[in-house]
Amino acid sequence: MNNRTFTEKYYIERKDTASIKWARGRQMGCLPMWIADMDFRCDDRIIAHLNDFIAYGDYGYANLPEDYYDTVIAWHKKRNSVAYRQEWFRSSKGAVDAMYQVIHSFTKENDPIMINTPLYPPFRDTILKTKRKVVESKLIDTDGYFTFDYADIETKFKEKKVKLLMLCSPHNPVGRVWKKGELEELFALCKKYRVLICCDEVHSDIIMPDQTFYPALSFKEYQDRIISIIAASKSFSLAVFSHSHIVIASEKLRNRLIAYQQLHHTGGINVANSLPTYYAYRYGEEWMDALNNVVFENYHYVKDHLGPYLNMTPLEGSYLLFLDLGNYSDQESASQCLIDHCKILTNPGEAFAKRYSSWVRVNLATSLDNVRKAVDAILNYIEKTEK
Ligand SMILES: Cc1ncc(COP(=O)(O)O)c(C=O)c1O
Repeated sequence: MNNRTFTEKYYIERKDTASIKWARGRQMGCLPMWIADMDFRCDDRIIAHLNDFIAYGDYGYANLPEDYYDTVIAWHKKRNSVAYRQEWFRSSKGAVDAMYQVIHSFTKENDPIMINTPLYPPFRDTILKTKRKVVESKLIDTDGYFTFDYADIETKFKEKKVKLLMLCSPHNPVGRVWKKGELEELFALCKKYRVLICCDEVHSDIIMPDQTFYPALSFKEYQDRIISIIAASKSFSLAVFSHSHIVIASEKLRNRLIAYQQLHHTGGINVANSLPTYYAYRYGEEWMDALNNVVFENYHYVKDHLGPYLNMTPLEGSYLLFLDLGNYSDQESASQCLIDHCKILTNPGEAFAKRYSSWVRVNLATSLDNVRKAVDAILNYIEKTEK
């Protein structure tokens, strides 16, 4: 399926739906390119199966489809060469809920937890709300290409006695798909300093064609300290169903999570919320590949047109582009500048780390037409500023 066919078939008008993204855009008179969901609906077959479930009307207590886990496992095996096992899986009401569960299960109050910033804000919020301590290791920014600062990480592991690393892979907002060697070096440090790793991999299906994604649990040597959070919610825009998995190979670690879940009566399987994931993994492969191509084209469009003026992350994974307005911003916050002058709503860079206020995060999971409108508005603004 080429990009035009995909867009014609799957782009959905969300102006009058319950979409938070578009409601806020409407309220502010802006084209919404913030929040991480897509302006595309799922593959027809996924929707048809969900329709059948709703239409048949049996909403009593239910089992998951018999091959639910086989289907999830096969998807990840085929796409990312990782061999999960059914007994490793636990459920949660979304990825942020999973982060809370992990922090509660594996750390106690005041324990130091590391994050690599700039970073999707709920990582920090979750640590603070659970009364743990944030240990921040800044990513090294080389002209918009972000990498780990291993020396800083090691010093902080040692001096702050970090208990848990909350990793984002692929990384939101810097768009990195960490290389195998980068993860190996990081995990070796975690092993040396006995740091557990919680790896949020919810963007792992949106991988640009020239990249390879390495799931944390594919590193066998480090499996005994890894807790992965995976979901189909970003891949297929299923956020409304609030469903994700916490995957743990180590029986010892898994039992700690299970004990927490039992104590708090949480982590139960919600069949209705699991079905979209099941159908997405069964029928969504062609759709997923097409979506990736659309995001890649959108990214190249932005890069080709704005690249001569603005610094931006080379997008390796996710559909979220981190873009620096630099001196073109006439406001403290570049995001406000884009609202005022271009009528585009993005996520402010300072939400990911205070020092990134000249940056914005732009959601590219939309039509090329919308991307063109945004690019034109920014180019107009740049032209006016330069006069
Ligand atoms: C890295 C990352 N983790 C978690 C989430 C939120 O996931 P959920 O809605 O399942 O809590 C997002 C949403 O943008 C995200 O980008």
